[in-house]
Amino acid sequence: MCGIIGYVGRQRALPIILDGLKNMEYRGYDSSGVAIKETSGKIKAIKAVGPLLNLEEKISDNNFEGSTGIGHVRWATHGGVTEKNSHPHMDCKRKIWVVHNGIIENYQELKAQLLKKGHKFQSETDTEVLAHLIEEKLKTNNYQEAVRLALKEVRGTYGVAVLNQDEPEKIIAARNFSPLLLGVGEGECFVASDASAILKHTTKVVYLDDGELAVLTPKGHAVYDLGRNLRDKKTHHLEWSLEKTQKNGFPHFMLKEIFEQPEAIANSIRGRLLPEEGLVKLGASEDLKKVKRILIAACGTAYLSGKVGEYMLEEYAGIPVEVDLASEFRYRKPVFQKGDAFLVISQSGETADTLAALREAKEKNVLTLGVVNVIGSTLAREAGLGVYQHIGPEIGVASTKAFTSQLTILALLTILFGRSRDMSVITGQRIVKEIKKIPHLIQTVLKQDAAIKKLAKKYNHFNNFLYLGRKYNLPIAYEGALKLKEISYVHAEGYGAGEMKHGPIAMIDENLPSIFIVPQDSVYEKTISNIEEVRARKGPIIAIATEGDKKITRLADDVIYIPKTLEMLTPILSVVPLQLFAYHFGVARGYNVDRPRNLAKSVTVE
Ligand code: M6R
Repeated sequence: MCGIIGYVGRQRALPIILDGLKNMEYRGYDSSGVAIKETSGKIKAIKAVGPLLNLEEKISDNNFEGSTGIGHVRWATHGGVTEKNSHPHMDCKRKIWVVHNGIIENYQELKAQLLKKGHKFQSETDTEVLAHLIEEKLKTNNYQEAVRLALKEVRGTYGVAVLNQDEPEKIIAARNFSPLLLGVGEGECFVASDASAILKHTTKVVYLDDGELAVLTPKGHAVYDLGRNLRDKKTHHLEWSLEKTQKNGFPHFMLKEIFEQPEAIANSIRGRLLPEEGLVKLGASEDLKKVKRILIAACGTAYLSGKVGEYMLEEYAGIPVEVDLASEFRYRKPVFQKGDAFLVISQSGETADTLAALREAKEKNVLTLGVVNVIGSTLAREAGLGVYQHIGPEIGVASTKAFTSQLTILALLTILFGRSRDMSVITGQRIVKEIKKIPHLIQTVLKQDAAIKKLAKKYNHFNNFLYLGRKYNLPIAYEGALKLKEISYVHAEGYGAGEMKHGPIAMIDENLPSIFIVPQDSVYEKTISNIEEVRARKGPIIAIATEGDKKITRLADDVIYIPKTLEMLTPILSVVPLQLFAYHFGVARGYNVDRPRNLAKSVTVE
């Protein structure tokens, strides 16, 4: 959802900024731009519509020698995808340049005031008002004070970096509800929306909090609140390696991340399983024993992991669970009760709706928990108790390894909650034992990649798909459909296999393939009956079934097998063929599956 970067130091800023933008391109690829303070004393900017490559082609390398600059990749919100609307945006005198991630909600009101004062606008964006507002404040204030005063008038969300032609070697950055971190180097400073943008240069970072403003120079950084008070900020060390942010020989990040799942899950469970005791170690607090109900809120794929978690926690821990789309949660006036715990799930830890839901729960003094991947992200810092996923960066826009890791952590939470209630040692031991096997079992599913690729080609001419499942695999039907929709732009609908006869069955004919998730679990026979219903109406059938299932070969046109595991853990295996199917389907249609149109990896606007 837009990525910003700034560099101030002794090196040429341009290559550092372009490289950082490349690593953040998953945040937005509608357009991009850079502004560099040149040795001539002027700020020069260049922008291009489309992927970053277009900007790189436009830049004649020798033109940019300066060592202070800012850059931006855009996911359009206000104003169409045009060069004029691309960042950086500037004031009337082309002295103040701004890159921004977020939304300035009162921009129309501010723009009207600025127009009255004679300011001339170039773009339709909300961001441009900030450049003009700073220009206005500069008439009677110094640079830092002008930025501070401008931000105090702004309502909305921002991660922002500002460059001023009259103040060489200085960048001012600020944050409100949009992620932003500083990178600390030797004689240089960085600011970025995402750690992957600066990882090549430093692993020392300072996370900005909402309402903080940072002044960056080659000598270092200083952070203030918007009341001008100096803040004492901690420097953190990033765990992620640069290698993890590269494709390592895979054609796409999505495929790399699908194949990384055994390792990712091994990392998510490392040091957390106690097989002898049938327990898990999650740094649990005594408060968890008092929990009587769990409310889960998340978005997209993370939400669907929560839906699987609902089945796990209710069946094995005996705790009532409610799962909400985070975007709906606040608006339905949720009723909290004594003994509630509120769990948010988010790969990025920056999803605006999930963050807003968390804050709502915190305001009501509810115990909050987070399952988050990105260390130091806003959700990770704000959730009361947290479990990190430890899967390294997920860069492909379509979430894959984050999902299976979230399911695994939900299984760990089920043991944690279950064992502090009625779950027996034997049940705990059995689940722990099966979880340990999961990385290896995923390997066996991944071995079918070539066969799944063939299937994706065979079915590539269809433009509609139904994904059907029951119980633990109903959310997997939704997830399989979501994966196909987001990377191949093909209509796919996830539905309850048992519910299908109440409507969608009307659509079934030889032109509508159904993908059934039908492992040999407690609802196997019921799902088989649903397959018969589709077969009777000549619908093509692909089945995701358990190894050794002979019956299914008679019913389905094509079968992909997954190994046997505990019913509650089958989703971790059954989703993998669906990820591969969607990946190969999208690639066969000629799409860049890592950058599906209209999407961004981290949705930091509500
Ligand atoms: O970073 P988060 O896990 O909070 O992201 C939530 C969703 O935006 C995300 O899962 C989205 O649905 C993915 N594109 C799905 O593949």
